[in-house]
Amino acid sequence: MHEKPLGLLAELTHRCPLGCPYCSNPLALDPREDELDTATWLRVLREAAELGVLQVHLSGGEPGARRDLIDITAGAHAAGLYTNLITSAVGITESVLTGLVQAGLDHVQISIQDGDAQSADRIAGYAGAFARKRALAAAVVGHKLPLTVNAVVHRANIDRIGDIVDLALALAANRVEIAHVQYYGWALRNRAALMPSREQVERAASAVAELRARHQGRIVIDAVVPDYYARYPKPCVGGWGRRSLNVTPAGKVLPCHAAESIIGLEFWNVRERSLAEIWANSPAFSAFRGTGWMREPCASCPRRELDFGGCRCQAFALTGDASATDPVCHLAPDHARVARGDPDRSWV
Ligand code: SF4
Ligand code: FES
Repeated sequence: MHEKPLGLLAELTHRCPLGCPYCSNPLALDPREDELDTATWLRVLREAAELGVLQVHLSGGEPGARRDLIDITAGAHAAGLYTNLITSAVGITESVLTGLVQAGLDHVQISIQDGDAQSADRIAGYAGAFARKRALAAAVVGHKLPLTVNAVVHRANIDRIGDIVDLALALAANRVEIAHVQYYGWALRNRAALMPSREQVERAASAVAELRARHQGRIVIDAVVPDYYARYPKPCVGGWGRRSLNVTPAGKVLPCHAAESIIGLEFWNVRERSLAEIWANSPAFSAFRGTGWMREPCASCPRRELDFGGCRCQAFALTGDASATDPVCHLAPDHARVARGDPDRSWV
């Protein structure tokens, strides 16, 4: 018997007006005509709740590109799910927000690209995006919804974490997430421009510690060490097929948002099967669930149920073998691929 998933990432669309260089969309986007219709999403959300899911993250692309976003949110709320909207803010007008609140929306997460307008709009590739984020954040707080600000940091903005936290405070966010770029998909393609130096990462870690002390009780600051510079990998998605699932705009069910980057995995689709059947039996979920698939050094490692061998997508991206130990681990045979001295590390 498998554990129950707790979270569902509903990627309602891959459409998005912004063009961030670290976008988590796959390299090949689902076109609009392949997107699931409203009725199918409502069924998926009901099935998710029956399966044990507690939280749904309504995401994209930009979920505001879906005309039925309010209906989908209402369906999730009716199914008993806690609803979190993950948005760039571009595409969520004040009247849409009011409709979402009436539909039962519980939480909003707005992504920001930097602490100041000019740089933020340049990174997003969209003039005026920053101003829209500020306006939506004010409206969210006006509706008394909890607000999280999410900032992806990389070489061009990592030295301004203080400004980013100041901005989150000015927006009256409850929480700010400082997320380091994860290098697969678009970010791997743009890695040379995005990867911060070790000195930058170290400065950022002390900045976060200092900001946490200074703003304690006013805002929660979530930040983790970027895994290229960590000793152990992160327990990606809390372990493959263990805590969460992800439905793509066209209905494929993935163990994590980047799983399609692993060539050769077979994903099942909610158009043909129930979410419960997919969770229990889909070949993609079974491939790396638990610890039975592991080779050494993970197979006998005391940390194998803590980090689950790291990220399968990163292992595949860096070694071509998704069952390899994540090269971020200092024990991994392929660790040289992320360590200093690798001839491929032209980006350091
Ligand atoms: Fe984790 Fe495997 Fe490294 Fe052990 S060897 S710490 S299980 S990635
Ligand atoms: Fe897919 Fe880590 S992003 S397992």
